[in-house]
Amino acid sequence: MEDKVRAVALKYFLPEQIDGIKVINDRVIVTLVNAAENADKTQSLKQAIAEIEGVNKVSVVYTANKAFSGLKAPDEMWQIRGVKKIIAVASGKGGVGKSTTAVNLALALANQNKKVALFDADIYGPSIPTMLGYEGVAPYSMDGHTFEPFDNMSIKSMSVGTLIDKSQPLIWRGAKACGALQQLLCDTNWGDIDIMVIDMPPGTGDIQITLSQKVKMDGAVIVSTPQDIALIDAVKGINMFKRINVPILGLIENMSYYICEKCGHRADIFGHAGAKKTAEAMGETFLGEIPLHYAIRENADNGTPIVFAEPESVYTEAYENIAKKIIAKL
Ligand SMILES: Nc1ncnc2c1ncn2[C@@H]1O[C@H](COP(=O)(O)OP(=O)(O)O)[C@@H](O)[C@H]1O
Ligand SMILES: [Mg+2]
Repeated sequence: MEDKVRAVALKYFLPEQIDGIKVINDRVIVTLVNAAENADKTQSLKQAIAEIEGVNKVSVVYTANKAFSGLKAPDEMWQIRGVKKIIAVASGKGGVGKSTTAVNLALALANQNKKVALFDADIYGPSIPTMLGYEGVAPYSMDGHTFEPFDNMSIKSMSVGTLIDKSQPLIWRGAKACGALQQLLCDTNWGDIDIMVIDMPPGTGDIQITLSQKVKMDGAVIVSTPQDIALIDAVKGINMFKRINVPILGLIENMSYYICEKCGHRADIFGHAGAKKTAEAMGETFLGEIPLHYAIRENADNGTPIVFAEPESVYTEAYENIAKKIIAKL
C-alpha cells in the first residue's frame, strides 16, 4: 500500500518534498515539507490517493523546514485567537486515561456539530501525536512565526510533544515550559473554534496552576479511575481549580468496570461507583463512566481513537453522552 501511495505522490511532489507516508488500516497520512502553498496540487494528490483500492481516508500534513522561532516570556492573560470556549481535561495523577478521555471527548464534541480543537499541554508525557497518528511530525509554519494546527479526524490539534525531544523530556520546566505552551497556544492559526479541549499535565503543580490562570478556562473536567488512591488525587485536582475560580464541569470515571467478552459478566475491578460518590460528596456533577476495554486502549495507542474507529459502539456512545452534558453546561 505504502509503495502505491508513494508512486502516486511522486506524480505531484518532488521526492524531497515527501517527508513521510503512513498507512493505518484504510487510512493514509502523507507528510509534505513546505508545500502548503500548493493547495491545488494537494487536493489532486488527496483525490488520487483516495482512488487507490483499500483507501478510505486521506490526510495531508505539512512540516516546516523553518526553525522554531524561540521562546517568549509568559505575560498576562494569554489570548487564543478564534476560540470561543476552553475546557481543561485534568487528572490528579498520571496514567488514569486523561489523554484517552481528552481525545475521544474532542471527537465526540465534533460529532455534536461543534468546531473543536484539541491542545496537548502535557509537557511530562505528551501523547496526542501518537493518539491522532502524527507522531514524529513537526508543526508547519507558513511564515516562520505562526503554526498551522494539525487537521485530521474532524478536529484541529496541536501538541507540545511536537517540540519536545522524547529522549530529553525533563528539560522544560517553569517559565520555559510556560513560554512554550503560550507560544503554541497563542501562535497557532486555529481558525474558528467553538470548543477547545486542553489535555492538561497531570497533577496540581505550578505549571498546571499557571496554565489554568493564564488561559481563560470555561471549565474543568476531572478524570479519575475508581480506586481510592486515584480519587484522593482527583479531589486535590477539583480543589485546585476551585481555588483559582475555574468552574468544575464534572468528574468522569475511567476504567470504571470490565465486561467479559465471553460471558457478558460485569466486573467492578477497582470497586464500584467511587467517582460518583466522590462527586456527590463534593457537590459536583458526575459526568459518566467509561469501561475498561481493550479496544479503547488498542485504538488510542494505534492512532485511531475509538470514537473515530468505532463510531457506532457503546464506547463511543458513552463519550457522546458526556459530550452532550458538557455542551449543555457550557
Ligand atoms: N477506558 C480504557 N480502557 C482501556 N484502556 C484504557 C482506557 N483508558 C485509557 N486506557 C489506556 O491506559 C493507558 C493510559 O491512558 P492515557 O490516556 O495515556 O493516560 P494519562 O493521559 O492519564 O496518562 C493507555 O495505554 C490507554 O490506552
Ligand atoms: Mg496523557
